[in-house]
Amino acid sequence: MHILITAGPTREYLDDVRYLSNASSGRMGYALAAAAIDRGHTVTLISGPVSISAPAGCHVIAVESTQQMYEACVERFADCDGVIGTAAVCDYTIKNRIAGKISKTGQSLTLELVETIDVLAELGRQKGTRWIVGFALESQDARYNAVRKLYQKNCDAIVLNSPQVISSEETSVDLIDQSESVIEHWSGSKTTVARLLMSWIDEHLPGRIR
Ligand code: CTP
Repeated sequence: MHILITAGPTREYLDDVRYLSNASSGRMGYALAAAAIDRGHTVTLISGPVSISAPAGCHVIAVESTQQMYEACVERFADCDGVIGTAAVCDYTIKNRIAGKISKTGQSLTLELVETIDVLAELGRQKGTRWIVGFALESQDARYNAVRKLYQKNCDAIVLNSPQVISSEETSVDLIDQSESVIEHWSGSKTTVARLLMSWIDEHLPGRIR
């Protein structure tokens, strides 16, 4: 199969030097890219800024903002059998980005933020016969929110994890499918969990009917 993977954080600039982002390391997405390549798949990895190297053999597209990630995904999705959305996408952008550098004035500063596009939800709308595996990062009502996102984003399955794993080497996840139940629980290094998830995908999610 040809698999599209989103990984890492995105950044939304307030001015020319400051941005909103998060601590995503990209490890989960990169581990999945490696596991998919090991299983003989073709991988396009659309990655926000991270400090780790991509596995040999995958096609990497580096992006910075959520809008850039969205455009890169839409362009590549047409050629893919499925997508795995591991990216910790920045959900807000500044309404009016300031040119240059914001200078201090001695006063408080109020920034108006607006929501960015939901990359996976948009791919979900365009999905057709392709499959979608999302990730859900939840701190409360975890299972309920993960199932809600599974439907919102038109996913075949969603991997539920918690904020503690965001920049860690290890992870602990529940896999939920459209039955709305936890069908697998895996924990260990992100490499181990990535291999288990790719094996599950190979077994349960077919290549695209072209
Ligand atoms: N996602 C995305 N584009 C966004 C936000 C999220 O593609 N703008 C994807 C993530 O890569 C992940 C899934 O959607 O696969 C769920 O992300 P998560 O951060 O858990 O949830 P959000 O949709 O951002 O919702 P909320 O922040 O309200 O929990």
